[in-house]
Amino acid sequence: MESTSVKQIIDECKKKTRIQYTNKGGFFSPKLKSINHLEVGYSKIISNPLTIFLERLYVVYKNLRNWFNSVKERWFPRNPEIVGTVKDAYLTGVISFKEKSDVRTPIVHMKVVFWARTKLFQWRKLAEGYTDHEGVFNLPFDLRAAVKWANRKNLIFEVEEIDSIYFDKNKVGHHNYSVFHKQTFPKSDLIGMGYNLREIQLDYWNYRTDTIIPRTLLKFDNGDTIQSYTQGRKDALIEQIIPIELTKLKHLLLIKEDSDKISHASIQADYPINLTQCIEKELPGYTRGDEWFGERMMNGMNCGAFMQDPENPDVYMIKYFGLCNYDHNHEFALPDVTIYFNFNNKGIPIPFKIKTVGALNAINKDQWQQREFTPADGEMLWLAVKRLARSVGNVCTEVDEHFVGTHLNVEQYAIATFRNFKHSPLSILLMPHMREVSLINEGADKLIIKGFLPEGTALNAKGLVKRAKDLLGMFDWKSWRPMKSISEDHRYAQAENIFFEVVENYVNTFFEQNLKGIISHWDEVYRFSQDLVNHSVPVFLSDVDLDALPTNERNQALERLAYYKFQYGFDETVTREKRNNQLKVVSPITHKTSISAEDTEDINNLKRACKYAIMQATFMHTWINEHQYDDLGEVLYSCGGLRFGDKESGVLVPESDLSIAPNLTVTTQQLWFANFLSRTEYGFITKNEDGDVNPIFTELLESKRADFDKIGVSIDDIESRTNI
Ligand SMILES: [Fe+2]
Repeated sequence: MESTSVKQIIDECKKKTRIQYTNKGGFFSPKLKSINHLEVGYSKIISNPLTIFLERLYVVYKNLRNWFNSVKERWFPRNPEIVGTVKDAYLTGVISFKEKSDVRTPIVHMKVVFWARTKLFQWRKLAEGYTDHEGVFNLPFDLRAAVKWANRKNLIFEVEEIDSIYFDKNKVGHHNYSVFHKQTFPKSDLIGMGYNLREIQLDYWNYRTDTIIPRTLLKFDNGDTIQSYTQGRKDALIEQIIPIELTKLKHLLLIKEDSDKISHASIQADYPINLTQCIEKELPGYTRGDEWFGERMMNGMNCGAFMQDPENPDVYMIKYFGLCNYDHNHEFALPDVTIYFNFNNKGIPIPFKIKTVGALNAINKDQWQQREFTPADGEMLWLAVKRLARSVGNVCTEVDEHFVGTHLNVEQYAIATFRNFKHSPLSILLMPHMREVSLINEGADKLIIKGFLPEGTALNAKGLVKRAKDLLGMFDWKSWRPMKSISEDHRYAQAENIFFEVVENYVNTFFEQNLKGIISHWDEVYRFSQDLVNHSVPVFLSDVDLDALPTNERNQALERLAYYKFQYGFDETVTREKRNNQLKVVSPITHKTSISAEDTEDINNLKRACKYAIMQATFMHTWINEHQYDDLGEVLYSCGGLRFGDKESGVLVPESDLSIAPNLTVTTQQLWFANFLSRTEYGFITKNEDGDVNPIFTELLESKRADFDKIGVSIDDIESRTNI
């Protein structure tokens, strides 16, 4: 077939299977037979009366909740005016991060507010202010206004956090605050001129102490609540998930009670058609061919790093490292895979050799056994080994790049941002891109790290945590650069470069407009940098005695290091710092607590770190996340793990042999996940659902719309934060 018509079919299928978001009312609203009906596929369950009932119930609940909140705001407004005229008393205390040690870190520049409520529940603000460099607050207030008869018995002291950012008509960013911590005391206690609340220890954006990976403590024992998902995000999730969830539940019930009525094919048919299935309908066999394989490795979810073969400049390699001695189960194959490519005249990488290291069947489990495959081995074997390589590649992309490279990597910047940026304009720059990542990561711990991956891949939870720590040891802002485009068809790298140009302009413009404020609150940058370095993991392999390892392990470790350095733009020659004898992976941004405009190195470091964090939270995450359904939405095409089965042929058999495919439970779980993760995206830059995207960022991105369109990328699909 002519390559133009192949391209037409692919483009048509991309359009047909593109995920659309309505964000208006309920999932089936306004009409049951709307586009949403098609969007969720062919499952009869979506037109089931129970589904419709649940759906309508949810819409009723949402409307009621919104009404209740608006009534509350109207009747009991938190009047911003401070009452009283004479400041004849004061409320004081000190706020620090909760820690076991005797020397505690103060929470600096935290907003504190002192309230009374009248007997009719009206709010009266007595005083407000911020903690100083030692975490101390001192709030002068009018004693008579506090103790007057009309006030209720208890007075309220609140610690407020910056909850979200919004922009006014002049494109200036502002803070929305919400209550993080609240405590009360009787007004009868106000007997002297001053009242001391003493030390208040808070788990405010604290680091978890049960893991070496920098993670946010999200569990509180005193009723405090840290950031939550925006209401719009929660609604979008529920609206999208109801039909997918019910589809999965139906499958699990059938598997348990009537398993002859369910099959891989029927499960697949219940979920919406994905890209590969759509193309297969028009071009049977095309998605299993060499061209599609190379095209997806380059421009699909994997967005692989093509390393030039030093011996032969025409050859490029992609390497995926499988088990690597991490704790694992013995049901699924996860060998190391190296794929060798040549580029064809369209700039598409065509695989010509695949090398595996590790077990491919249940009989020979030698993890160092090597095999090499080429098309000359026959079509059946070549198809099977490409399928294996796809599956290993997808697992490595999901774990190493998606979960670690974006989700965990961004979380460390999110914690440091929310802990430290209060007065600095950097809160306006970073917070919109850093919010919700800690929340979704906690969800991923339960659902993915302890849930799906140990069931559907060779890796178990213990192995995954160790792998995550190792991989995180390759991510640093200092030497990162976007991927170089290596052919005219390398649309992923081209898009990454255009987007990075946008991010660079956005951050540079922000710095130009806010440099004075950034410099005058440089102490916050210093603490941000300290937090990042102190809590980052050690550089990969820096805490391993390589000479003590057996030769195979040592060689594999060094091969991983060399490839990851290339893949993640990591420069090990950069001067890094040690803490507790560990070489910390994140480079310091500054060593100074105050600077002037002449300290260009510190300012440039900060700019680069901001650009890096924004880039990872937006484009880098979106690309993998949104393509999951394209590349993992047809379970026999690719999956989290091929089972060894019990034959000597192991995983090297055709797709029709279902004994190596994921079992029925894992099949519906994988499709549920691929749908759930790709379909419940929310928080797009151009859509700006929560009004927190800097208009300058949007304008700069819009100015590149045509350039992105040219390479088949819609800027409307790019999210402003990592939240799914
Ligand atoms: Fe994600």
